Amino acid sequence: MDKFVIRGGNPLVGTIRVSGAKNSALPCMAAAILTEDEITLENIPQVRDIETERKLLASMGAVVDLGAENDRHHTTISCRTLSDPVAKYEIVKTMRASSLVLGPLVARTGMARVAMPGGCAIGGRPIDLHIKGLEKMGATIVQEHGYLEARASRLKGAHLVFDKITVTGTEDLLMAAVLADGETVMENCAREPEVTDLAALLTAMGARIEGAGTSTIRVQGVASLHGARYRINPDRIEAGTFLIAGAITGGDLTVADCNPDHLRAIIAKLEEAGVRIDIPGPDSVRVHPGERLLAADISTEEYPGFPTDMQAQYMALATQADGVSLIKENIFENRFMHVQELVRMGANIKVDGRTATVRGPAKLSAAAVMCSDLRASASLVLAALVADGESILDRVYHMDRGYERFEEKLRSVGAEIQRMGNVFAPREPQPVAD
Ligand code: EPZ
Repeated sequence: MDKFVIRGGNPLVGTIRVSGAKNSALPCMAAAILTEDEITLENIPQVRDIETERKLLASMGAVVDLGAENDRHHTTISCRTLSDPVAKYEIVKTMRASSLVLGPLVARTGMARVAMPGGCAIGGRPIDLHIKGLEKMGATIVQEHGYLEARASRLKGAHLVFDKITVTGTEDLLMAAVLADGETVMENCAREPEVTDLAALLTAMGARIEGAGTSTIRVQGVASLHGARYRINPDRIEAGTFLIAGAITGGDLTVADCNPDHLRAIIAKLEEAGVRIDIPGPDSVRVHPGERLLAADISTEEYPGFPTDMQAQYMALATQADGVSLIKENIFENRFMHVQELVRMGANIKVDGRTATVRGPAKLSAAAVMCSDLRASASLVLAALVADGESILDRVYHMDRGYERFEEKLRSVGAEIQRMGNVFAPREPQPVAD
């Protein structure tokens, strides 16, 4: 298993470029199921989850081209030859976002057989709201032997109200609705930019959607969709992670190829924590060296609130801030896996239920630590960038799932970080989903 070796102490200086959003690319790739025509997606990130999604679609009979070996930032997908609407457990267990094929498969083929994703490191991650919505649209769903089997001759438009805000639930049912018979109104939807990205692709394919990015989405079902070419938005979580990397190292770092409009809550919180930030242009945000970091509380919320996917990274910053920061995790029940590893590096953090109390500034010392999930891994990298000495981070395959060439990008702005072990190659995905 690959490891990162990181020597802390260097301020990050220069420009670092953001890749396309993994959590936009995944639903957009699944949307290719909805048409016989070719879909081309640009600016997709070259990360393991995209490779997993390619395997999943190919296992169903789709033809998925992931571009040349050295430039896999675009993909062309044809589901004309979709022959086997089954998402097998061997793949689903490595990436729970595989459940995003459920809605499109039922909408396109009238049938889907999808392995239940099971839980993961950060929580139970049920998909009951996906199921409830599809049943409301006329699908019959049987759960047995760890699989969901959904059938519908043609889904019917319905009035759906989500009991909880769910990002992939909103995306899954949006993809079900675009080919349904009649109008679907979805209330209490997720407003994440990744939902808006998917809706933009579906509209380019001929879907009739209003309200994407708001809590209420209205869809007029159409008989069929055609092909399209679409460019994925930048990854706001990768951008936020790099902003914190610049802030925690006291660097002067410009994060380029991002969308500052998607970073408002992150930027506001970093400014409250004493980070000096400006926005030099429409696709970049710059962090300047500041005097000192100040404690500031966060409470994770659905978009446009402070993202749960930035909670672990912010916690690393809070260990260096002057004062007590309260970090409340409202979205997932077990998203503090990074805490004990940060404590082993010298952080002062106490957890009580869904709230972590961080006292700073704490002097961090390098240690051998273990990555547990995608964003916890990023948190440990950030801590290692300021820790005294050389840290070893194990199980960095978690990072490879959602961060493209992470160590190369950080090295290009002065971080002392090396990958040990096998060079990242798309080997069998690891049995951990989050
Ligand atoms: C998406 O996961 C993201 N993944 C996650 O990013 C992100 O953390 C999460 O949204 C929240 O923003 C992708 O987009 C591929 P949810 P998702 O459904 O859709 C509960 C990363 O780091 N819920 O919005 O699975 C659920 O348990 C990953 O890139 C139900 O109860 O999350 C959670 O408490 C990690 N029933 C809450 O809703 C359901 O049917 C929000 O989950 C669905 C969800």
